[in-house]
Amino acid sequence: MRSLIVISLIGIWGVVIISSCGSSVNGKTTTATVIPTESFITADTSLIPNDQFGEAVRYGRELMLNTAHYIGPDGTRGKYLGNKMNCTNCHQDAGTKAFSFNLMSSHDNYPQYRGREGKVLTLAERVNNCVMRPHNGKPLPLDSKEMVAFLSYFKWINSFAPKGKSFKGAKNLHVSFPAVAANPEHGQVLYQENCSRCHGHTGEGQWNADKTTYVYPPLWGSSAYQPGSSMHRVIKQAEWLKNNMPYDKVSPGKTFLTDAEALDIAAFVNNDKIHERPNPKSFDYPQLAEKAIDYDKGPFVDTFSVAQHKFGPYQPIISYWKEKGLKAIY
Ligand code: HEC
Ligand code: HEC
Repeated sequence: MRSLIVISLIGIWGVVIISSCGSSVNGKTTTATVIPTESFITADTSLIPNDQFGEAVRYGRELMLNTAHYIGPDGTRGKYLGNKMNCTNCHQDAGTKAFSFNLMSSHDNYPQYRGREGKVLTLAERVNNCVMRPHNGKPLPLDSKEMVAFLSYFKWINSFAPKGKSFKGAKNLHVSFPAVAANPEHGQVLYQENCSRCHGHTGEGQWNADKTTYVYPPLWGSSAYQPGSSMHRVIKQAEWLKNNMPYDKVSPGKTFLTDAEALDIAAFVNNDKIHERPNPKSFDYPQLAEKAIDYDKGPFVDTFSVAQHKFGPYQPIISYWKEKGLKAIY
């Protein structure tokens, strides 16, 4: 409804309206192709109740934003994480940003069967997967104040999500798959052009002033996420990069990288031949047919190489699975 009104106003007041929301380049007026933020759902923090539940919600939100401060390697409330990243580095705006591994439906969606572990997980167990993998940590006790706070926060943000149906931004944008494999060498060139100014030439990120966390989190090295983490999967990361990076050039619905560029960069970032990461033993899809196709550890249900699973081309794998009556997961 709102967008219809905007369009009709532009029809009448074109120049005035466009110049107020666009920018002027060489005297020409340009309009941005941004989906209005009003069309994305979000959680209004001024509505957090002023009672004990609200207190848990507030602490949960704090934990999402300043995870390392509270439960990092030098955490003030416990030492659980193995690195100083924060949940919000990937689940941006504390899990409420569209297309950024949005967590507003999570409370509705668990307990849930997970192919990765081959069993039904509670939301608390799923939180601990992120504590253990991208954060390289040890699990929070399920009855800890911190876990209760995370769950309270997820329940509260869930109250803003439509019941029983998805919403725009609940899942990340998809990328289309080129006929060729993702190219880490080209990804390296793109990385230096688009990413290194914040994440560093060697992917180390940039500390904040007192080194309690990062201004720009690391992308590889001993302080970054581990290979068992979903961010290490090339398709998964590319889908996230598409609408989240470079940080200062995107906003929900307004992308910067092309699909092929996002895949090439994700292939470079996640290339284990050149980039080290902490690598503890991890869980491994007990049912091979439930393994994500871009997971880079065999064995596989098909005969495609590890390299093809990791870098593509993915379409032949997807078609092969379809022929066998299996649904490719990615
Ligand atoms: C390096 C990136 C990264 C960090 C940091 C991170 N996560 Fe995640 N998280 C992911 C990815 C990737 C997924 C899988 C999303 C998917 O498959 O769509 C995920 C999934 C989840 C889910 C399941 C969502 C659902 O509805 O299925 C929860 C809950 C979650 N994370 C919580 C957390 C919490 C809490 C923290 C901080 C302690 C955290 N994550 C830190 C990347 C990250
Ligand atoms: C202007 C600075 C900036 C640029 C440029 C930038 N990033 Fe980021 N990046 C960030 C910030 C800030 C975060 C954390 C976001 C938050 O906490 O809300 C982040 C988070 C990330 C994360 C998730 C957290 C982690 O460390 O694993 C990945 C992956 C990532 N960026 C990759 C990239 C890639 C690839 C590029 C280039 C295409 C890029 N970034 C460009 C600032 C930047």
